[in-house]
Amino acid sequence: MNKETKQSIEKKVDSLLSIMTLEEKIGQMNQYNGFWDVTGPSPKGGNAEKKYEDIKKGLVGSMLTVRGVDQVRSVQKIAVEETRLGIPLIIGFDVIHGYKTLSPIPLAEAASWDLEAIKESAGVAASEAAASGINWTFGPNVDISRDPRWGRVMEGAGEDPYLGSKIATARVKGFQGDDLSDVNTIAACAKHFAGYGFSESGKEYNTVSIDRSTLYNVVLPPFKAAVEADVKTLMNSFNELDGIPATGNKFLQRDILKDKWNFNGFVISDWASIKEMISWGHAEDLNHAAELAVEAGCDMDMESYAYVDELVKLVKEGKVDEKLIDDAARRILTVKYELGLFDDPYKYCNEELEKTVIGSDANRAAVLDMAKKSIVLLKNEGNLLPLPKKGKKIAVIGALADDNNSILGSWRIASDDNSGVSILEGLQQYKGNKLVYKKGADVTVGQTAFTEELTINTTNTEDFDDAIAAAKKSDVVVMVLGEHGFQTGEARSRTELGLPGVQQELLEAVYAVNKNIVLVLTNGRPLTINWAEANIPAIVETWQLGTETGNAVAQVLYGDYNPSGKLPMTFPRNVGQIPIYYNHKQTGRPVNSDNNVFWSHYSDVENTPLYPFGFGLSYASFEYTNLQVSKSNISSEDTVEVSVNLTNTGKVAGKEVVQLYIRDLVASVTRPIKELKGFEMVSLEPGETKKVTLKLTKDELGFYNNDGEFIVEPGTFKIFIGGSSITSLETEITLN
Ligand code: BGC
Repeated sequence: MNKETKQSIEKKVDSLLSIMTLEEKIGQMNQYNGFWDVTGPSPKGGNAEKKYEDIKKGLVGSMLTVRGVDQVRSVQKIAVEETRLGIPLIIGFDVIHGYKTLSPIPLAEAASWDLEAIKESAGVAASEAAASGINWTFGPNVDISRDPRWGRVMEGAGEDPYLGSKIATARVKGFQGDDLSDVNTIAACAKHFAGYGFSESGKEYNTVSIDRSTLYNVVLPPFKAAVEADVKTLMNSFNELDGIPATGNKFLQRDILKDKWNFNGFVISDWASIKEMISWGHAEDLNHAAELAVEAGCDMDMESYAYVDELVKLVKEGKVDEKLIDDAARRILTVKYELGLFDDPYKYCNEELEKTVIGSDANRAAVLDMAKKSIVLLKNEGNLLPLPKKGKKIAVIGALADDNNSILGSWRIASDDNSGVSILEGLQQYKGNKLVYKKGADVTVGQTAFTEELTINTTNTEDFDDAIAAAKKSDVVVMVLGEHGFQTGEARSRTELGLPGVQQELLEAVYAVNKNIVLVLTNGRPLTINWAEANIPAIVETWQLGTETGNAVAQVLYGDYNPSGKLPMTFPRNVGQIPIYYNHKQTGRPVNSDNNVFWSHYSDVENTPLYPFGFGLSYASFEYTNLQVSKSNISSEDTVEVSVNLTNTGKVAGKEVVQLYIRDLVASVTRPIKELKGFEMVSLEPGETKKVTLKLTKDELGFYNNDGEFIVEPGTFKIFIGGSSITSLETEITLN
């Protein structure tokens, strides 16, 4: 936005604020869920009547989960035509990985390490949501997490703050575009501020305890990146930090976000998180909760009824300064102006666009591209993959192969159920082989829904024999196993991370008759699949890839697309290793130097993970040679060029994500054994060599001290380069 537009918006907001009553300003800070049919007769059920009346009185600034041009127009009409000032509503929605046309779950997209593709994918989601009347998404989720027990890892970008920050920027830019007032862009919301990904023992909504160094260096950087990318809103979180719920946490929302980072958008609470401060034992009642939240810098209340019902009183009694209300309302109104809602409140309500944009061929092509890029090849012994295109008998086994719902993933509330291309449907398009499908066993029992607990099949193995018989007669078996799409997401924590239900048993039973197995994993979090890694020749991580899942998986299995994905999160060997992450600290006893037990390790499992962060294979193979630095003695103003030669030593063209890591050997606050500080995607023909150069500056060499100040300390840094966090080459530089 140029300076002139910014100043003119400021003026308009000021003049609007000057004629607003206290009640109307507080109204802007109130958001309701719109579960009733606003186009229908009178609203019924829940608090629908109150909500409806409050909109008419100008006491609602925003609605969430209203969707479709018809619905949005109807509710907007009430706000614009029936209230005193006619201030338009801002319409929010959880557009997490697509609206109707679904891209892969965010964790899967992160595995692409392809920032342009991720940005484009967010752009597709924004265009569909905007065409449906929506102007604001509750995304991206930028929570760093090291705990795959936590179900919401599927919504984020994994464990690494550097990759997470780059992806946060890409997603914010993808949603918001270059001009927020365009009809195909929407406001973004970086969430959940902050620390939610560290929920203790991976249990949903649990307490969090994070040391300052981890908070500043791991948790906060993706939020800072989002703010620097001009994200318009942030959502606070359900957890507490230092014993203070994030929603009422002044240190996070005022000191860091608004003061230190100069964030001038607005903060929304999470669903009822203002009210939940009562359950936390931090607020006495709703009145107290409203006071704490507004003081702490939470500008909008999602579904707590705290601001709308309590704030007027609090201001009139002198407990809350009206300046805080003005500040919050100003922030919210500014975003509404930036979206162009005051110029035309119905600008996002265009039936023609709704019909043509949603589900368009171009959008399907974009999500297919993203889906292919998100697949990670974990093992390919004896080059079992890619599959030959003809003359083979192939058995496809696993209920998830024939499922066009689960593969859509969680958090997709606007999409149609069963609207994905199943993996079986994808494979069936390759007609040269003889394909048979056998379910083998169900993964779930009964109904599956976003809001309901799933029942996993842990006993029924009656279809095993059928699958085993088919496997016996086949040349290759493709087994599609993993988690149901609703086994991850909010409130989907697990304590065991193996293949759910009877699937491990099925895998072993099939393996007993045919060892030529390609294991296609479909899941929303890292799994513990040690047995498979030890025994199964080929393993492909396909996550939940959205609408085009089957087409993407088939193209990869048949070699029409060469996989290049790299894991954004460590796969543990067992749950006891969690939290396990590549950028851990060295400890005082990192190795067994004295040949006794007194070193940092477990007595029953290795320290290493099953698959490390950054790992992923290709049908090509790559060799790294000749690591060089442009300068090995540097000052903090220097830029060091780190270069390496990458050769494709395989027989097919392929892409490789070259990864640069550093280690600060001695620091006033201890640093991780490795930190990702750069990466680049390189395409190579067979036999081709390219010199790849990555840059390091003080931004990459410094870190946050325990007061949250970014510092760069002199000393020696190790530099590593390779195709995963287990790098092959290293050198050193010294910062003077
Ligand atoms: C989630 C948020 C989401 C909100 C609105 C909450 O339960 O934590 O991430 O945006 O609901 O649906």
